[in-house]
Amino acid sequence: MELLSTGVIVMMIVVGSVTALIGLICVLYYCCVLRYKTYRGLVSLMGKNVVITGASSGIGKATALDLARRGAKVILACRNEKKTSEVIKEIREAVENADVVDYHLDLASLKSVRSFAEKIKQDVTKLDLLINNAGIGEQGKTEDGFDLMFGVNHFGPFLLTNLLLDLLIRSAPSRIINLSSLAHRFSPEFDFTEEVKDGVRYPHLASYPISKMAVNLFTHELSRRLTNTQVSVCSVHPGIVYTGGIDKVLTRGGCCRKLFMPFFRSIMRSPEAGAQCVIHCAIDESVRELSGSYFVDCQVGKESTKASDEELAKQLWDVSCTATGLV
Ligand SMILES: NC(=O)c1ccc[n+]([C@@H]2O[C@H](COP(=O)([O-])OP(=O)(O)OC[C@H]3O[C@@H](n4cnc5c(N)ncnc54)[C@H](OP(=O)(O)O)[C@@H]3O)[C@@H](O)[C@H]2O)c1
Repeated sequence: MELLSTGVIVMMIVVGSVTALIGLICVLYYCCVLRYKTYRGLVSLMGKNVVITGASSGIGKATALDLARRGAKVILACRNEKKTSEVIKEIREAVENADVVDYHLDLASLKSVRSFAEKIKQDVTKLDLLINNAGIGEQGKTEDGFDLMFGVNHFGPFLLTNLLLDLLIRSAPSRIINLSSLAHRFSPEFDFTEEVKDGVRYPHLASYPISKMAVNLFTHELSRRLTNTQVSVCSVHPGIVYTGGIDKVLTRGGCCRKLFMPFFRSIMRSPEAGAQCVIHCAIDESVRELSGSYFVDCQVGKESTKASDEELAKQLWDVSCTATGLV
């Protein structure tokens, strides 16, 4: 009897410890991943013009809705007309008199980037905010033969930003926001030598973490080049967010998608939560003085040492000019 009760006590201790450990992990996970800062500034953006790439879903769509609510003219720079017109309909239903329009942009085509920039410069006399949000984690090749991830996540936005730079400088004070990722920290070793393999240019840069490392390096170099202007630039990690990108990965898993979707949704941020740091960087006055910084949760975050390497950033700039034909 005494033995049995000792066994029960030991079991209770084990169960109690395991429960406490699971509880602790859940609290830590909530604090480190799910908890986020909401941007609470009530700033009006009446009279401001915004371009946001990849606004047809996820964080871009949530950001576009918020900025439209604040009265900005929001230009959705997207590749899928059908999806984008749905988003415009949703925004107009949610926001009375929303000023939101759709311009075609495919970041996997330098030709498309050039014609988009031309059209913007023809139609808009002032650009207050450029949000390079579109991003991709899929493999493939761009129209110009670059690796798809590096092409869409870096070369396309690099060319787009440079082509719109004179307009942004004329419209100053203005801002540029580049969507990066915590993943940049996991970037393998790389260099920027020109390589071609199986028809793909720069195949050794075919990695999501490398493409996001490039976003941070580009942000630093651009900020240095904009020192004497009133254009500020920053990069943002939005958190781990349940969006179309994650959905695509699950869809590849076929029937598992339905099973795992609720689980993944519950352990990730919503797109609205993911948009908060972008909105903070787009609006908050404090950000203007912090050009070049990497933001996480509405404050300056810690990036990898390599991401702020000045020499590497200069090399990337030169390589990107050559690759995109920017003179
Ligand atoms: N979700 C996360 O956990 C997370 C974490 C860190 C960083 N980020 C970054 O945050 C940004 C937004 O991600 P998200 O999660 O909101 O992704 P998402 O829902 O998959 O949306 C990506 C957007 O980019 C667009 N896009 C893709 N390829 C394009 C191209 N060639 N030309 C123009 N637009 C293109 C997509 O357009 P379509 O609708 O036509 O496909 C879509 O609108 C990305 O830069 C991503 O890398 C996300």
